[in-house]
Order: sequence, then C-alpha cells, then structure tokens
Amino acid sequence: MIEKTFAMVKPDGVQRGLVGRIVQRFEDRGFKIIAMKMMKIPKELAERHYEEHKGKGFYEPLLSYITSGPVLCMAIEGENAIAAVRTMMGKTNPQDATPGTIRGDFSQVTGRNIVHGSDSSESAKREIKLFFNDYEIQKYEKIDEVWLFEK
Ligand SMILES: Nc1ncnc2c1ncn2[C@@H]1O[C@H](COP(=O)(O)OP(=O)(O)O)[C@@H](O)[C@H]1O
Ligand SMILES: [Mg+2]
Repeated sequence: MIEKTFAMVKPDGVQRGLVGRIVQRFEDRGFKIIAMKMMKIPKELAERHYEEHKGKGFYEPLLSYITSGPVLCMAIEGENAIAAVRTMMGKTNPQDATPGTIRGDFSQVTGRNIVHGSDSSESAKREIKLFFNDYEIQKYEKIDEVWLFEK
C-alpha cells in the first residue's frame, strides 16, 4: 500500500553534514519526497511531537537535543513507507542497529541517533500535520514510477 510518512534529520545529523547522504538513501530507494524544510523546532512543537515520552527519564534531554539546532523535516511517500523508512533507519539504539541502516552506519548512542521516522500510520498522519501545512505537501508524478511499480 502506498503510504506517507514523516522523517527528520535531527540536529546532530545536520551538524555532522549527513543531510545529503540521508536524503540520497530515500531517493535511491525510489521513495518520493513530497515535502522538505529546515527549521529550528520551537520547544512547544518538540513537546507535542514527543508527547508520548513525557515523564520518561530521557524526555527533558530529548527536548534539549531536538531543539538544539536546525533539523531537516521530510514527508516521504512510497510502498509501505512507514515501516520501510523505519527499517532503513535501524533500531532506536544505534548499538542494536544493523550495519547498512542509517543509525547503524552513522551513529553510536541512543541520545544522538540522527534520524526520526513515524512509527505507525496514526503517528505518520499526526506528525505530517504537526510539521507541514497542506500547501507544503506536494502531489506530483515522478517519471520513474512506471519502472518502480507493476501496473
Ligand atoms: N534511553 C534513552 N536515552 C536517551 N535518549 C533516548 C532514549 N530512548 C529514546 N531516546 C530518544 O528519544 C527518541 C524517541 O524515542 P523512541 O520513540 O522510543 O524511538 P524512535 O526514535 O526509534 O521512535 C529516540 O530516537 C532517541 O533520540
Ligand atoms: Mg518514536
């Protein structure tokens, strides 16, 4: 099923110059980038984005981390995109992330794991809406679609 998901290169990924290589992986897979912007996340938005983690030990450090510098936000569309993008990112703890995944290739610790991806269709919808206005989501056909998918 064709899905939309929300993905983010976190402040450490931006600072370490990994934006291009991370975006490249999604393009290489044939995923369609339907929205993209850089922003410094305001504290209130960070709190809403990570509200499920409120009260956990890592919540305050997580808010500081995610608001510490600009991030690159994306909406990505493709076959099974929500799970597929998470698989490409690897496990939350980079020590458990398989080589070949983004976290497994570019990071070492959970608190600096360089990317975010929505974990369910509810989160994907919620997070896309949280970070993008409707007019920022692009609806377009890409010329490779006839070769990426069966008719
Ligand atoms: N034990 C932890 N210590 C430090 N940071 C953590 C810890 N657990 C989670 N985090 C941070 O909070 C983010 C959100 O956690 P979670 O939703 O469980 O993972 P994921 O980002 O893989 O969906 C993680 O990506 C990571 O940046
Ligand atoms: Mg999560």
